[in-house]
Amino acid sequence: MSTPSQQAPIKFAYWVPNVSGGLVVSNIEQRTSWDFEYNKKLAQIAEKAGFDYALSQIRFTAGYGAEYQHESVSFSHALLAATEKLNVIAAILPGPWDPAVVAKQIATIDHLTGGGRIAVNIVSGWFKGEFVAIGQPWLEHDERYRRSQEFIEALKGIWSRDDFSYHGDFYRFHNYSLKPKPLKQPEVFQGGSSRAARDMAAKVSDWYFTNGNTVEGIKAQIDDIRAKAAANNHSVKIGVNAFVIARDTEEEARAVLAEIIAKANPEAVNAFGDAAKQAGKSSPEGEGNWAKSTFEDLVQYNDGFKTNLIGTPQQIAERIVALKAVGVDLVLSGFLHFQEEVAYFGEKVLPLVRELEAGKVALAA
Ligand SMILES: Cc1cc2nc3c(=O)[nH]c(=O)nc-3n(C[C@H](O)[C@H](O)[C@H](O)COP(=O)(O)O)c2cc1C
Repeated sequence: MSTPSQQAPIKFAYWVPNVSGGLVVSNIEQRTSWDFEYNKKLAQIAEKAGFDYALSQIRFTAGYGAEYQHESVSFSHALLAATEKLNVIAAILPGPWDPAVVAKQIATIDHLTGGGRIAVNIVSGWFKGEFVAIGQPWLEHDERYRRSQEFIEALKGIWSRDDFSYHGDFYRFHNYSLKPKPLKQPEVFQGGSSRAARDMAAKVSDWYFTNGNTVEGIKAQIDDIRAKAAANNHSVKIGVNAFVIARDTEEEARAVLAEIIAKANPEAVNAFGDAAKQAGKSSPEGEGNWAKSTFEDLVQYNDGFKTNLIGTPQQIAERIVALKAVGVDLVLSGFLHFQEEVAYFGEKVLPLVRELEAGKVALAA
C-alpha cells in the first residue's frame, strides 16, 4: 500500500546562501554570493524552475567558514517580497529567540506577504562558540531539544488559540491572545538527526529535516520516526539534504566532486568536524548529525555528498524517486554555483522526476 508521501509529487527546496562562503568548505571557485541582489535573483530563478521552498540559515557569528551572515527572518521576508509563489523557511534558534517574539514576527510577515508562504525551521544549535560569543547559556544536547519542543508547542499554541496558557520549564504564557494571528498556520520544520531530534519530530513538528545520507540510512530514520509518530497520533513529513552536482555526463559531475574535495580547506573542515560532532556525539546514543561523518563528508556542511545526487540528470532523477519510495517528501538541495545550477536543475532534472513519478518512463535497470 502506498503512503500519502509516495503519492504526492516530491517537493524541492534549496538552501538560501545568506551566509558567505557557499555550502562547501573548499577553495574551489563558487559562483555564489551571500548578498541580497544575488539571492533575490536566485529566488526568482528557483520559483520559475519549480522549487517549492527556500531554506534560510541562521548564524550569529563565524566559525569554520561563513564569515558574514545575514539574519534569517528579515532575509526571508525580503525574499518573499521579491517572489510570488515560493515558500520561504526562516531558521530560528531557541535561546537567542523567544517564542513570543517569533510568533509575532512571523504572523506579521504572513500578513505582509499575503498569507501561507512563510514557514519556520527550529534548529537546536550545534555551535557552542556561537552561544558563548553572544552570551547565551549552552545547554547539553537533549536539553536543547527539550527547549525546542517547548518552543514549537508555544508557537503552535500562540498561532492557533486565544487565551493561550503554557507552563513549561523554559517558557510560560498566561492567557495570551496574539492579534492578529497568521492568515494561515505557518509550517514548522526542524533540523537534526539524533534520537532527541527524531522524538521531537514524532511529537510536534510538521517537517523533519535531516542531513544527507544513503537511501538505507534515511529509510532507517523514517521508519523510526513514522512508527513513533503513529503512536503519538501525529504525522510528520521528511526532508533530506543533498548537495547536487548535475552535469551532462557522469564524468564531469564526478570531476567536480573530486575538485571540491581536493581543494578542501583541511583546517577549517577538521575544526568544523570537531565542533559539529559535539552535536551528534554528545547525544546519549551518539547517532546525531555528523556522528559518523568522514573528512570528505564534512566538506559539505550537512553531509550532502552522501545522498549521491551527483551525476547526469537521469541518474539524479532516478535516485530522487528512490528516496521518495522510502518515504522522503522533500529534497533540500545545495549547489556550487547556485543561480546557474538551480536553473539547470529545473530544466533538466525536475521534468525527469515528474515523468518517473507519473510512471511515463521506466527506471533504468
Ligand atoms: C536542514 C538543516 C538545517 C539546519 N540549519 C541550521 C541553521 O540555520 N543554524 C544552525 O545553527 N543549525 C542548523 N542546523 C543544525 C541543527 O539545528 C542541529 O544542531 C544539528 O543538525 C545537530 O542535531 P542532532 O544532534 O540532533 O543531529 C540545521 C540542520 C539541518 C539538518
